[in-house]
Amino acid sequence: MSTKEKVLAGLEEDRGNFISGEKLANLLNLSRTSIWKAITLLKEEGHLIESFPQKGYRLKLESDCLSTTGLRLFLNESIKDYDLKLLTTVDSTNQEAKRMLLEDGLRKVIILSEEQTKGRGRRGRDFFSPAMTGIYMSIVLKPDQTPKEALGITIAAAVGISRAIKKLTGIDVQIKWVNDIYLNNKKIAGILTEAGTNFETGMLDYLILGMGINVSVPEKKFPKELSETAGCLFSEKPKNLSRNQLAAEIINQVMTIFKDLKDQAIIEEYRKRSMVIGETIEILRPNKNAIAKVIGIDQAGGLMVEYKKGDCETLHFGEISIKRMEK
Ligand code: BTN
Repeated sequence: MSTKEKVLAGLEEDRGNFISGEKLANLLNLSRTSIWKAITLLKEEGHLIESFPQKGYRLKLESDCLSTTGLRLFLNESIKDYDLKLLTTVDSTNQEAKRMLLEDGLRKVIILSEEQTKGRGRRGRDFFSPAMTGIYMSIVLKPDQTPKEALGITIAAAVGISRAIKKLTGIDVQIKWVNDIYLNNKKIAGILTEAGTNFETGMLDYLILGMGINVSVPEKKFPKELSETAGCLFSEKPKNLSRNQLAAEIINQVMTIFKDLKDQAIIEEYRKRSMVIGETIEILRPNKNAIAKVIGIDQAGGLMVEYKKGDCETLHFGEISIKRMEK
């Protein structure tokens, strides 16, 4: 750990309360000058640290910069062997993961970025990723699964994000098949999974699980084209909940679910949170869109639909939109 990280960890331990420079120096076995230098650097990075001659230093409750130190405080023991790579800015954390795979090979790593300049969504769309108000991260996984089974991972990730939000905020979000997270009919999070397959074994070589969460209102608001459809978890973020804590809890929940993807409770929760079951939907297809009614979600996460003429189909991938007016 660098001196800066040590000092941040010391402040994080008692976030919101003052700790004297002397106490911090003794605790971390550092000189008061190096503490002061580290504090200056941390302030420059955007951490909200107060310093008063008589009282010492305090990391303010509302300080909300992402940091590996802050993330590690909340990560489960079982994830401690994952490398955390936190960037200030990147084109896309999924792209960064691919670059790392090419350079270093497969390894346990979670990449986060304060902002993305070319955040990617499904079907070639952009994912708006401004700094300070969202969480953008990619987990590199080596699942022992076939590409067909990868749908289960997306399902699991959607449930994991929902569980983390429920645990830390009490908020119940909804899931729009296959992997969009909604709150009050606005999309607040999306998942983009990208995988490589081994042609000889037919199994997945690696899987990059990219998750983007709009935590609070972006400083410059959403761009016009998203203003009707995109939303945030909070209109006003609680001071005592940091993005570090939320990101770490999402990682904890998602990784816990991955340990037992066959757990029935996952698909049951997915169904319970589904906002499409019973709805009339439009299935977006390259040639001709189709209208159908959603009659259920099968054990593998497939969307069971019934067309007007009474014939049924189960979809394993694709894009749908809900046609509320035609219900
Ligand atoms: C979607 O809504 O269609 C999926 C959005 C996925 C966004 C996340 S943010 C982290 C990771 N990096 C990306 O470029 N995309 C995913």
